[in-house]
Amino acid sequence: MISLNIEKTFGFISKESVESYEAAAKAAREALENGTRPGNDFLGWLHLPSSISAADLAEIKATAQVLRENCEVVIVAGIGGSYLGARAVIEALSNSFTWLQEKKENPTIIFAGHNIGEDYLYELTEFLKGKKFGVINISKSGTTTETALAFRLLKKQCEDQRGKETARKVIVAITDAKKGAARTTADKEGYKSFVIPDNVGGRFSVLTPVGLLPIAVAGYDIEKLVGGAAAMEKVCGLDTPFAENSAAIYAATRNELYQQGKKIEILVNFNPKLHYVMEWWKQLYGESEGKENKGIFPAAVDFSTDLHSMGQWIQEGERTIFETVISVATPNNELHVPSDAENLDGLNFLAGKRVDEVNKMAELGTQLAHVDGGVPNIRIVIPALNEESIGELLYFFEIACGISGYILGVNPFNQPGVEAYKKNMFALLNKPGYEAESKAIQARL
Ligand code: PA5
Repeated sequence: MISLNIEKTFGFISKESVESYEAAAKAAREALENGTRPGNDFLGWLHLPSSISAADLAEIKATAQVLRENCEVVIVAGIGGSYLGARAVIEALSNSFTWLQEKKENPTIIFAGHNIGEDYLYELTEFLKGKKFGVINISKSGTTTETALAFRLLKKQCEDQRGKETARKVIVAITDAKKGAARTTADKEGYKSFVIPDNVGGRFSVLTPVGLLPIAVAGYDIEKLVGGAAAMEKVCGLDTPFAENSAAIYAATRNELYQQGKKIEILVNFNPKLHYVMEWWKQLYGESEGKENKGIFPAAVDFSTDLHSMGQWIQEGERTIFETVISVATPNNELHVPSDAENLDGLNFLAGKRVDEVNKMAELGTQLAHVDGGVPNIRIVIPALNEESIGELLYFFEIACGISGYILGVNPFNQPGVEAYKKNMFALLNKPGYEAESKAIQARL
């Protein structure tokens, strides 16, 4: 089970000050359960892990199997909450070099629809030429421009290359039950489709087909992933006392640090496979809390890589930051430092040690240095990079986010701010229905 340690925040904030959040955290947890605060129409994620049925999982696995049997490459088209969860889990569990291997056990998963880079899309379409590929088109609204644009290109290429009939078999839609262009297309073309529940927002959707289908296609065990999340759901349940509820303590600690002027939380890993877990976390916390001119700014770094870039700022820059480190207790593989007779690189003092021992000393040394430099440190330890632990971690962050947002006093489940750029973009592109906005924006240029 994952564990939380906040001891290295003491000295910046007190244990008592964290404990003083007990009532607020309890009220926030109850509000999530009872749906008594703003955003209560988006609480479908709360009991997802324990309520996903065996039949739902079997349907996802059966569809994954169709894609696995018929595709060497599967493009997952989506953005934001319709993208990051799947990528986070797949990258955390994947061999870093499978991508380059000739013979592959699983289809290669490629993500698209999360940018409008012409070069990216051109290179993708070039790469897919002659390949047996399929597409999972993910969009809750079914109208997101980035995703729709990528899907238009991919659908045409898939049909041209594989024929309409096969394309129909290897294109899957995950979208709203009734509305949106993705639903219209899926129904008209007869694609296999899954519904994103109305009451689950994008950034909380990783344990719906949005995350589970791509993860299953990639070859990972979605039952174990959901099982890990369900175990955490239990640990962070309504009846768990504050002192034993790690998510509530994390939420309380970061709110207290924020009140004491620590406006930026830097999520840290010492394992590059966690890079996209950090990206997922940034969206979860950024979109949930950054509103009403409030909210901790969520940032992320990969250590020790970024110790050689951002390390200077973290050690000695403005003291408005705190760190939350995700530490993986045990690597999945063992590699020892070899001894070298000549010792030209001077590394014989490490001979015989596991590489992870060096990494762990980098981790400990960094923690002590950063605390000495004025950076409070929260530590989350996960046992290993496997489906259960990642499931636990995802749910831990989700429920902590709900509690934290309510303690902060915002609605953690809306994202009104993301509409502003879309409105301008549509106006600039003369989208039908945006005539007045187009006129107004042209006048500003
Ligand atoms: O969390 C969110 O709501 C957003 O990040 C959305 O997931 C993102 O904008 C994509 O939206 P959609 O799934 O409607 O295409």
